Amino acid sequence: MKSEREQDQKKIIGMFNAIAKTYDTTNRILSFRQDEKWRKDAIARALRWVYAFKGDLQNLAVGDVACGTADMLLHIVQDLEHKGSLARMYGIDPSEEMLRLAQDKIAKQAPKQAPIQLECLEAKNLSPLQNEELDLITIAYGLRNVLDRHAALREFSRTLKKGGVLLVLEFMRCDQRGILGTLAHFYTSKILPIIGMLLSRNYSAYAYLPASIEDFISVDELEDELNAVGLEVVEKKHYLYKSVSCILAVKNTQEQACT
Ligand SMILES: C[S@@+](CC[C@H](N)C(=O)[O-])C[C@H]1O[C@@H](n2cnc3c(N)ncnc32)[C@H](O)[C@@H]1O
Repeated sequence: MKSEREQDQKKIIGMFNAIAKTYDTTNRILSFRQDEKWRKDAIARALRWVYAFKGDLQNLAVGDVACGTADMLLHIVQDLEHKGSLARMYGIDPSEEMLRLAQDKIAKQAPKQAPIQLECLEAKNLSPLQNEELDLITIAYGLRNVLDRHAALREFSRTLKKGGVLLVLEFMRCDQRGILGTLAHFYTSKILPIIGMLLSRNYSAYAYLPASIEDFISVDELEDELNAVGLEVVEKKHYLYKSVSCILAVKNTQEQACT
């Protein structure tokens, strides 16, 4: 029998299957296209850290977890076109509908030879990936949906090379906001679910967003969890008055047992 957490996880994945078709349009409208700007900025920062540890950006092995409709994958391919090259790239997501749209977008927008492989998997078990295979793992607006977060973070640490980089882009819980932060929070918690519902015709999916942010951890708490699996936070950048955060962590270059 499935545990309560497994059943809740199944519901979350089902919800993404249900909103997949309207996901991209809703995202762009709700963020006034800022989501693209934040993704690009976060990817550029992550690649700078990969470069700092690896010495170049050639033949990178990259995994985008909770890849959804492949926005991060496509931005990474685009960014690396001028800066380096890809050996392989995994797009990982448990939602079949999201992956179907990702496949279509990759076929239309990525260069034909881009070595992208999509895998229908949850973040807590990345078993097709080898130990220390990846130079970079990204997870954008995905970690909040992963109920077994500790298992997922252990998997990120296992699959990253030493000196490999993890990029988390997420609506983190934030307990201290200024006036503008409070306004931004009002927008994400009250206005955004209503517009999201009208655009997607799925109220529960967009009511889930503010609830999942309130139930989520803060940047400091994530930093502790990352440390516990041997990932050291090297940079933090906040967008929209701390509503969205980019956290960059590097896998320790010294030997450490993961707990
Ligand atoms: C808000 S979307 C983000 C998609 C994409 N990363 C983006 O930036 O647009 C969250 C994604 O998390 C995926 N997801 C839900 N549960 C997950 C899990 N346990 N492991 C990995 N991904 C999960 C969903 O299927 C969905 O595609």
